[in-house]
Amino acid sequence: MALSRELYERAKKLIPGGVNSPVRAYDPYPFFVKRAEGSKIYDVDGHEYIDYVMGYGALLLGHSPREVVSALRDAVEDGLLYGAPTEDEVLLAERIHKLYPSIEMVRLTNTGLEATMHAIRLARGYSGKRKILKFEGCYHGAHDTLLVKAGSGALTFGIPSSLGVLEDLAKHTLVSRYNDIELTEKIVKENKDDLAAIIVEPVAVNVGLIKPKIEFLRSLRELTDDVDAVLIFDEVVTGFRLAPGGAQEYYNIRADLTTLGKALGGGLPISAFGGREEIMKNLSPLGKVYQAGTYSGNPLSTRAALAVLKYIEGNRHLYNEMKLKVEKICKEVLEFIEDKKLEATITYLESMFQIFFTSREIYNYEDVKTSDINKFKTYFHNLLKSGVFIPPSQFETCFMSTAHTHRDVEETIHSIENSLMKLEK
Ligand SMILES: Cc1ncc(COP(=O)(O)O)c(C=O)c1O
Repeated sequence: MALSRELYERAKKLIPGGVNSPVRAYDPYPFFVKRAEGSKIYDVDGHEYIDYVMGYGALLLGHSPREVVSALRDAVEDGLLYGAPTEDEVLLAERIHKLYPSIEMVRLTNTGLEATMHAIRLARGYSGKRKILKFEGCYHGAHDTLLVKAGSGALTFGIPSSLGVLEDLAKHTLVSRYNDIELTEKIVKENKDDLAAIIVEPVAVNVGLIKPKIEFLRSLRELTDDVDAVLIFDEVVTGFRLAPGGAQEYYNIRADLTTLGKALGGGLPISAFGGREEIMKNLSPLGKVYQAGTYSGNPLSTRAALAVLKYIEGNRHLYNEMKLKVEKICKEVLEFIEDKKLEATITYLESMFQIFFTSREIYNYEDVKTSDINKFKTYFHNLLKSGVFIPPSQFETCFMSTAHTHRDVEETIHSIENSLMKLEK
């Protein structure tokens, strides 16, 4: 029996579903990881995969980037946790502010969930209003205010909103359609007196990949200004990935609050939320919005993040290289799809891409839902057998890293085309 299968059977006895985050589980069993390096991940049964899961977007510089690993080696020698401030935290805040001018003040946290949860509490505390507007299919972490018709794992498993989320809380979360300016304007106007914030993924990556219409993002800036609500850009994925200054640099739009995570830590758990000083200074100990964390700004994650940002700043050309690699994969596969008259489409943007088994163009969650999920599952398994690891769910996105090589790209194109052909047989 494969060692992965054996481990999965043991895991299922003690860990719900055998995994510590639901999207990692798939039939008949997920591979268990032995190690990873660069663009490759290796399982306990001796298989090698080109990895496009990339820690669900966190590994912008690939697995175990040299710069991060060596910064961590030094950091470990200096102590693991202090519960007192460090110079590194100041240096990191300065670097974040430099890349994100809209972030006038910043707090470090540990996960994307924490960052969005605290940003929302802050927006409510600052504005004195209750309602939050989010978009169908956008995912902002598994916490109660936002686990309302959420995407990602919850969507995959067909749960519109999780059990355990109180209706009394969920009723303060309004949901609009992504890229739909008219509907959003209507909801905002109807709720203007009690709307604390709009939270949006500037590129929606938790329903496959949906690109924003630039007018849509601009309209959110105008609408929030009109009704005195806080505009929160959830850049947990797009931050440092879409561009060094994330979606705000890419689209030239300034958010009031921004949440960051994933790529920031190069694989270590760290996140951040920050924004206008006028809003941020409501946080304790300056203000009355409480927010805290034992591991916030912990020395290892902070040192790793410093190494990542330093590397990014010195290597801006890598963004274009990732973009060209993704374009090559997507353009060639799209040509193949057209040639063979397959019912499939691909969305791609910079270092991100995803395939959908539908003839519809993808602008919102309704469009994504027309994709043939069973075909996607078979496609995923076909790819896995040929040594390419993509997220096992249609409602996720594939991520390129700076470690992917031209050879990886050629092999990936070949594997995708073979996997698509097998679907037709
Ligand atoms: C846009 C976005 N925000 C927040 C989160 C939550 O981050 P974490 O899983 O680190 O809690 C995610 C996770 O995938 C995400 O994609």
